[in-house]
Amino acid sequence: MAIINVHDKSFETYLSEETIQQRVKELADAINEDYSGHRPLFIAILNGSFMFAADLFKYLTIEADICFIKLASYKGMKSSGKVVTSIGLEDDLFDKEVIILEDIVDTGKTLHNFLPKLLHQQPRSLKIAALLHKPEATEYPLTLDYVGFQIPNKFVVGYGLDYDGLGRNLKEIYQLV
Ligand code: XMP
Ligand code: MG
Repeated sequence: MAIINVHDKSFETYLSEETIQQRVKELADAINEDYSGHRPLFIAILNGSFMFAADLFKYLTIEADICFIKLASYKGMKSSGKVVTSIGLEDDLFDKEVIILEDIVDTGKTLHNFLPKLLHQQPRSLKIAALLHKPEATEYPLTLDYVGFQIPNKFVVGYGLDYDGLGRNLKEIYQLV
């Protein structure tokens, strides 16, 4: 098992590149089936979901739109829970079939706070696809429609996820030692 250092912390390999790619393809296959003949709009939440969104999108065979928005609730290793920014949502969601792409759902507060803003625009449907979910940490009620991996309540980096800005470029996902 590979051990890497990011800033002052050590992380060990948790999900390999191959494991992640296979699972992302499975999620895309499920979406291809569920949305066959439809044209959903994906809303990818930056920064963390950029890699997940790019890979998932490549595995889609249906027609689909994508846009990227930015919310922030994280500093260092603890979720502050406060959504500080929400920029980039220019598309009109009325009557659209929307799928949110999130890198990780931790406490659930970010999405729990953000969903009403989207529902206000009356999309035809609204689903959530999260690559990672920490069920033990989730305090806010949320229905996750597509989940890549349920993981323990430990900090992870890689594949778009960062620890204070670093680690996003890693092809694998690493867990805090
Ligand atoms: P909440 O608690 O609102 O948090 O569900 C969601 C956001 O927090 C970030 N997050 C993490 N980032 N490693 C990270 O690099 C983690 O283990 C982690 N847990 C939560 C992430 O930005 C997510 O969108
Ligand atoms: Mg994020």
